[in-house]
Amino acid sequence: MGLLDGRVCLVTGAGQGLGRSVSLEMAQEGAKVVLLERNGANAEKVAREIEAAGGEAVPYPLDVTDYERYSEIVTEVAERFGRIDVLVNNAAINPPTHTILNDTLEDWRRAIAINLEAVYMGSKLVAPHMVKQQGGRIIHVASIQGFASSGETGPYNAAKGGIIAYTKSMAVELGPYNILVNAVAPGFMATPMSIVNGVDEAETPDFQEWYVRRRKIPLGRTGYPEDVSGTVVFLASDYCRYMTGQLLVVDGGLMSTF
Ligand SMILES: NC(=O)c1ccc[n+]([C@@H]2O[C@H](COP(=O)([O-])OP(=O)(O)OC[C@H]3O[C@@H](n4cnc5c(N)ncnc54)[C@H](O)[C@@H]3O)[C@@H](O)[C@H]2O)c1
Repeated sequence: MGLLDGRVCLVTGAGQGLGRSVSLEMAQEGAKVVLLERNGANAEKVAREIEAAGGEAVPYPLDVTDYERYSEIVTEVAERFGRIDVLVNNAAINPPTHTILNDTLEDWRRAIAINLEAVYMGSKLVAPHMVKQQGGRIIHVASIQGFASSGETGPYNAAKGGIIAYTKSMAVELGPYNILVNAVAPGFMATPMSIVNGVDEAETPDFQEWYVRRRKIPLGRTGYPEDVSGTVVFLASDYCRYMTGQLLVVDGGLMSTF
């Protein structure tokens, strides 16, 4: 018996990093995983990995900002499987060196479109199916940058802060239908996103000195996708049944220090 036996789980940005790890783990727990990913080749690769491990996955190439295509896919998935149990809003971009002094309106709009507006769109598309079923889970991937800033990532942070606030609105609006809406806020995770201009942020001497050696991260290491994906699986499972509108911070203790 898996924690998610038979559940239909949609994961955006499933082709690498946290989305891949969440998808593999959900499949291991018995879910049928729908991989929504802009990079179709990576989505295929993850689907093959899941199948090789005995799980079930369907890859869909999708840019989550394409509302029309997103809508067609959600309809297709609902027809194919007869239900939609979980949506994990994970896809995001984190463009480097955005400050209010050097970014453009175009930069701002692009980051908000992928990191915030698409979260709204996906949720809006799955919610009616969950209402019909009288149950479902929507899980947003936010960030500690939604309430604290390392600088230079303004639009990303604004989107993540928006997600945290919107988690509460959605929880209130969808609670009467037994749809639970929660969010996770990872701290530093070693994924392709953490490689900025060819440099792995978690491997720089400054990172190692400050976050690891001086224990700014009390657990003394960067996080890995596997450190966060279990929390997402928990939020999708029946172990989480009386909690909604919440943000779980998964950061090795970083935000508990000053
Ligand atoms: N890596 C970190 O340190 C960190 C920290 C806090 C929060 N997060 C959050 O975790 C989530 C996953 O991040 P990650 O580190 O795995 O990033 P990543 O860049 O490794 O993976 C993101 C995935 O999303 C996909 N994607 C991007 N734009 C898309 C679009 N428009 N449509 C469809 N797919 C799209 C990418 O192709 C990629 O496969 C994100 O929401 C991110 O903001 C990451």
